[in-house]
Amino acid sequence: MSGQFEVSYIRENDDDSPYFRTLSGRKFNTLNPTYLLPADEDEVKRSELHHRMMQFVFQGKNYVGPVKEALQFGVHRRILDLGTGCGFWAISMADEFPRAEVIGIDLAFELCDLETGIPYPNEYFDFIHARSMHTGIRDYPWLLREIARVLRPGGLVLLIEPDLTPKVDGGFARDWSILWETYRNCLTRQRIDVSVPERLEDMLGATGAFENIIKRDGNIPVGSWPKDKHLLSVGQLQWLDYDLFLPALRPMFLELGLTETQARSLIENAQHHLYQPGSMSTQVHIVHGSKKL
Ligand SMILES: C[S@@+](CC[C@H](N)C(=O)[O-])C[C@H]1O[C@@H](n2cnc3c(N)ncnc32)[C@H](O)[C@@H]1O
Repeated sequence: MSGQFEVSYIRENDDDSPYFRTLSGRKFNTLNPTYLLPADEDEVKRSELHHRMMQFVFQGKNYVGPVKEALQFGVHRRILDLGTGCGFWAISMADEFPRAEVIGIDLAFELCDLETGIPYPNEYFDFIHARSMHTGIRDYPWLLREIARVLRPGGLVLLIEPDLTPKVDGGFARDWSILWETYRNCLTRQRIDVSVPERLEDMLGATGAFENIIKRDGNIPVGSWPKDKHLLSVGQLQWLDYDLFLPALRPMFLELGLTETQARSLIENAQHHLYQPGSMSTQVHIVHGSKKL
């Protein structure tokens, strides 16, 4: 979609009703019906928890990889955050790199449907970040080619996607697994490729446009079981994220054909699992690469 470089924003006093619809009592974007997680206050809270959690994972930073190197050349440095949510990451980056222009785009906040392309010219950005957003993209390999198009040679991409099959242990584990299986089935019905997180490295390599591709997967504890203080903070933040995530799935389950009773029981049973003490964990898949010179 080259040639269209405007991104529209919803400002505080604008009437935002054309951009949102209500499903099962939660607010959703209207731009892309595939993405069936809400765009409301609870989701903003969850997005902030996710951002804080990832900062702990990256030892207080907003990224891994040669980001400083990618941003050290050129007069006008540009950073793009794809599926920015309400922009917590983009704001942190603007604080850290005050001379860079940081742009965040999203279905619900700074409006752009990435399934129609990245609305910027070729070789425009030095660094592109896309975190926890593949569940709104039906053709992820195509998005990677778009990323390659708008990144300058030598520019860096950082892709971060949480696993959609979190590890389980004893007790209520079956309930937990069933919820995640249902979630994956819903996404598959929406034609989302649920294997994207574990295939990030191969997919980035398959574009042929990147080199120095490095994979750095991480194990994320869930809950208050870790003894180590740092991991304890990660675990607590991930627990709070899941506590908001489970009820956020209800409208998706209902939209895709589950009855109210089925959806409620799936979510309540998974909540039971989450509320049990135990050493649950999940994985986050992290890959970065530089665009070939
Ligand atoms: C789970 S949130 C993650 C937000 C943020 N990246 C973070 O890591 O905190 C996923 C975000 O991706 C956005 N998103 C999903 N599909 C999208 C699409 N096709 N175009 C633009 N944004 C999309 C959603 O609107 C949502 O804000």
